Amino acid sequence: MPALAEQASAAANPYLPQPARIVRIYKMVPDNYLFTLRFVDPDLAAGFRHLPGQFVMLSVPGAGEIPISIASSPSRTGVLELCVRRVGRVTDALYRLQTNDLVGLRGPYGNGFPIQQMRGNDLLIVAGGLGMAPLRSLLWYALDHRDWFARVILMCGARTPRDMLFGEEMTSLVDRSDIVCLLTVDSDPSGAWPYYRGLLPALFDHVTLDPARTYAAVCGPPAVYRFILRRLLELGFSKDRILMSLERRMKCGIGKCGHCAVGYKYVCLDGPIFTHWDAINLPELI
Ligand SMILES: Cc1cc2nc3c(=O)[nH]c(=O)nc-3n(C[C@H](O)[C@H](O)[C@H](O)COP(=O)(O)OP(=O)(O)OC[C@H]3O[C@@H](n4cnc5c(N)ncnc54)[C@H](O)[C@@H]3O)c2cc1C
Ligand code: FES
Repeated sequence: MPALAEQASAAANPYLPQPARIVRIYKMVPDNYLFTLRFVDPDLAAGFRHLPGQFVMLSVPGAGEIPISIASSPSRTGVLELCVRRVGRVTDALYRLQTNDLVGLRGPYGNGFPIQQMRGNDLLIVAGGLGMAPLRSLLWYALDHRDWFARVILMCGARTPRDMLFGEEMTSLVDRSDIVCLLTVDSDPSGAWPYYRGLLPALFDHVTLDPARTYAAVCGPPAVYRFILRRLLELGFSKDRILMSLERRMKCGIGKCGHCAVGYKYVCLDGPIFTHWDAINLPELI
């Protein structure tokens, strides 16, 4: 009986992480690894569902807990992929772990992209640097449900070819006929990059967009937002058709602690996906 009571209280505790095993660590670029995780509980592994743009709280034993976007598509079930940049205490500890080690996961949290609203429209994905982590989930979800969208256009930028996250995946999309894939790098020290060179916003010169029937999903460092938003508005995109994935420091992830509050919004509940309207009403969001 005590065991049952303990299980019941565990199930009712929203802060309790579920153990998940690291099944693969793919060293994409230095300090940006892709971790493939599988819940130890087979029912949870098979039954876990999320929306593109949602995140999990990832706990590393003895180090702490951090929010990380789910980088895999909801259409690829069984495992979760998290693309993590090493920046500090918890991510350092994560990078010391090996395949088969255990971490904790709780979630999924956040609103995710409004897929039902976006269906039937063109989809433009604009990713700079680590911005590809939350947008990759949306990208593969759209490609796995290709008939849900009209055109799918991807613009992806990195500093150099070797900094491009998911580089092989991105270049494999260039020749596909069901997506317009535009890749650019700021500089190409090797001289062997066969795609575009120059800053991400310059890619807009190479594609025709229909702002009235397109949703733009944008994620990247602050400079990306500044220039991309300006370009989208110049093209005539309405502010509710521009969707951004934004980050804040978080603790609970479930709207209890107030750490992620921006004005009257909680990034963990009302976001992390916000429209440009939200960002105008709450300028501190970006
Ligand atoms: C919704 C959401 C989704 C995220 N998705 C990803 C993801 O897919 N991949 C990924 O690598 N990171 C992601 N992050 C950021 C990630 O949570 C932080 O990098 C992580 O918490 C850093 O923990 P740390 O203990 O390693 O670093 P710390 O020791 O806490 O900090 C190291 C440095 O990182 C900065 N930092 C810490 N947290 C954040 C943050 N939330 N935003 C900006 N700067 C921060 C600190 O100011 C400090 O300069 C996401 C954050 C949010 C809120
Ligand atoms: S992280 Fe606690 S309220 Fe958002």
